[in-house]
Amino acid sequence: MKQYILMHKQTKTSGGNNVTKQIEKQLEDIQKVAKLNEGKNLKYSILTMGCQLNENDSEKLCGMIEKMNYTKTENLADSNLIVFNTCCVRENAEDRLFGKLGEVKKYKEEKGTIIAIGGCMMQEKHIVEKLRQSYPFFDIVFGTHTLHQFPTDLYQILCSHKRIEDILDIDGEIIEGLPIKRDDNIKASVTIMNGCNNFCTYCIVPYVRGRERSRSPKDILQEIENLAKQGYKEVTLLGQNVNSYLRVEREKQIPFEEYQGVHSFATLLRAVNEIQGIERIRFISPHPKDFTDDVIEAIRDCDKVCKLIHLPLQSGSTQILKVMNRKYTKEQYLALVEKMKKMIPNVTFSTDIIVGFPGETEEDFADTLDVVEKVGFEQVYMFIYSRRVGTPADKMENQIPEEIKHERFERLKKLVEQKMEKQNQKYVGTIQKVLIEGKSKNNDKMLTGRTDSNRVVILEAAEELAGKCIPLKIVSEHMWYLKGEVAE
Ligand code: SAH
Ligand code: SF4
Ligand code: F3S
Repeated sequence: MKQYILMHKQTKTSGGNNVTKQIEKQLEDIQKVAKLNEGKNLKYSILTMGCQLNENDSEKLCGMIEKMNYTKTENLADSNLIVFNTCCVRENAEDRLFGKLGEVKKYKEEKGTIIAIGGCMMQEKHIVEKLRQSYPFFDIVFGTHTLHQFPTDLYQILCSHKRIEDILDIDGEIIEGLPIKRDDNIKASVTIMNGCNNFCTYCIVPYVRGRERSRSPKDILQEIENLAKQGYKEVTLLGQNVNSYLRVEREKQIPFEEYQGVHSFATLLRAVNEIQGIERIRFISPHPKDFTDDVIEAIRDCDKVCKLIHLPLQSGSTQILKVMNRKYTKEQYLALVEKMKKMIPNVTFSTDIIVGFPGETEEDFADTLDVVEKVGFEQVYMFIYSRRVGTPADKMENQIPEEIKHERFERLKKLVEQKMEKQNQKYVGTIQKVLIEGKSKNNDKMLTGRTDSNRVVILEAAEELAGKCIPLKIVSEHMWYLKGEVAE
């Protein structure tokens, strides 16, 4: 197969005109592909790895693909188009892609299935090189900044069958107005900003997602108003560092249009809280260093904003936090938690923790356990440190041996589970407001929903309750879920 490389020049053209042209071009190409595919009964599958931002990107890809006359299937063998939306935050996320590629190769050979690979991993040069060498059967590779160009890439493949690598090394523009096909009809994710400027020393995200850029307040609020009109009840505002929303724009005096008084994350929360029909607002992830009082006050004042705050700790050791470039100390983190506990009634916390960062001593790890002990998190997402090519921590010499990392991970897990059991018991006998999501996946006689603190609650009740936010009495607790009854 001849190789055709569509590489972009590193010239960032800014301004609304260019963006409008790009959208028009994509919508045109969607029509062209739709016409080519008409009456062919084509199918596609999509495999999404990674975080909620990637899931939201996949919803955008599905929106475009379905407009191009493909219908979704879970069955890879049945697909005419297979799309991978990849993640590279840890090694195991990368391994998943290579495993799956081995599996789909036969479909390519047997029926010429189009294989498209996109997302964060494709922004890494060594990975694209590995694909060229070891998995040369792919048709399209696209990055995080060129996702919206998927219709153009697909059109070219259908016309010329020449392999395309469509990757942009600099930050892409924020593209609005493309179709989206959402996975759920009660809860929706809304990306409010792209990229990250923090460069935590272990993390690959800033390299693959580029610098922070915020969507305009008007685009966000109109999207949420539309969701409310369609009957959505819960929105999750997404970004790598949501509480620095519009900060770069303010600091660098990049012009943006204020809309309904929105010029910061706190004012955005307040404006979303006013949207009729939306009953719950969540956001992920904020950074502890940017938790200013205006944000805490907005969470306190806005009745729809859930009082579960995801506050990524990463490590409890001030020394490790410094080397991680997190810009807060153990004491500052704990003081922030205390302040929020005082200011926000019924506040709860969840967190992310990395064990085995280079140089982590037994004493450092004890500090992490100490913070877990003190805060009493609702949920802890635990990760074993994974070396990422190109990040400063990968070059550090004092890497921790695998067995120590695993042993510490198990100790942390044990403490987290003990704490969770205690936390669970506190729920029994209380009344919790639960947003009912629909039938439980594990037991179709039961409905499932979530508390404000994001705990899963199952109950026996009629399906008509789906989409309703109702008070439930918690009758029993189990490790990963609670059981409830409709409160009298
Ligand atoms: N911007 C968000 C989420 C980033 S990725 C935040 O700062 O919270 C999600 C989580 O993955 C991080 O919070 C971190 O705990 C974990 N993570 C990132 N890089 C990692 C690495 N190299 N090894 C292990 N875990 C990592
Ligand atoms: Fe990664 Fe840190 Fe940015 Fe989160 S804040 S995405 S952990 S660099
Ligand atoms: Fe992974 Fe990219 Fe998200 S690296 S965690 S999918 S931003």
